[in-house]
Amino acid sequence: MFRHPVASKTEVQISQRGTEDSRQIPNLDQGARSPAMGPQPEPLAPSELGTKEYWDALYARELSNHASDPADTGTSWFEDSDAERKTTRFLGALAGAPPKATASVLDLGCGNGSMLLALRREGWTGRALGVDYSAKSVALARQVASSSAAAAAASAAVEFAEWDILGGAYAGVLAGEQAGGWDVVLDKGTFDAVSLAGRRLCGLYPGRVAPLVREGGILLVTSCNWTEDELADWFAGAGCFAVAGRVGYRSFSFGGVKGQTISTLCFRKL
Ligand SMILES: C[S@@+](CC[C@H](N)C(=O)[O-])C[C@H]1O[C@@H](n2cnc3c(N)ncnc32)[C@H](O)[C@@H]1O
Repeated sequence: MFRHPVASKTEVQISQRGTEDSRQIPNLDQGARSPAMGPQPEPLAPSELGTKEYWDALYARELSNHASDPADTGTSWFEDSDAERKTTRFLGALAGAPPKATASVLDLGCGNGSMLLALRREGWTGRALGVDYSAKSVALARQVASSSAAAAAASAAVEFAEWDILGGAYAGVLAGEQAGGWDVVLDKGTFDAVSLAGRRLCGLYPGRVAPLVREGGILLVTSCNWTEDELADWFAGAGCFAVAGRVGYRSFSFGGVKGQTISTLCFRKL
């Protein structure tokens, strides 16, 4: 659905602050790179998938589809690669991962909310919150979660809220027992979407996400726009995270080069 990284990159410098987005972006310096750190990967050219209008329109359609056919729960990204199942299984097997029964989980850019429902089915019973800046996504996630008796039972404690990762006040998601951050923070396709919103916002994202993860907590990022090395540069390069593992996907060879269509990298907050 997104474009291949190599094909969509442009020769732009991320250090130049652009004017693509007029939102108020607080707290820009948390997790910022020091000059000693290596260069960030080249940003992607902006596209409509980086706009809120795109996501609002998509989820409005999916809301209405789901209302007329409850079996149609909308798009779960990277289904072809079985990303949801592979990611939840990876988390369950991760050495030193927080316990399933109590771990708090925050899903960034939750879309239809299926990732958190999948974790519930895998026995993750701690607090679970999905956030998205599209109110339509939040409405869809709530509608999907409550649309069947089984799903409603599985998702009893799953919360969904409207929150902008780049511009939202941290108080909206860092409160109570999660004041110091969440045990597990998930991102499936959201950094990809933000990467298509303009170079400035893409560069700010890792620093905005860092305070959401508690010290020693886990961040899992799944992307089709960035390779594992590039994800490591974006997130571990900012100095707040260390790479703690990867999810394996089927690989392919093209022109003598081996690759895979998506990447999921696991980070631990330092
Ligand atoms: C590719 S979709 C992934 C949805 C979901 N994670 C999944 O795997 O099905 C990207 C999501 O990120 C959300 N998003 C993009 N920018 C955001 C931002 N600044 N704050 C919160 N959500 C954002 C979009 O509304 C959309 O739901």
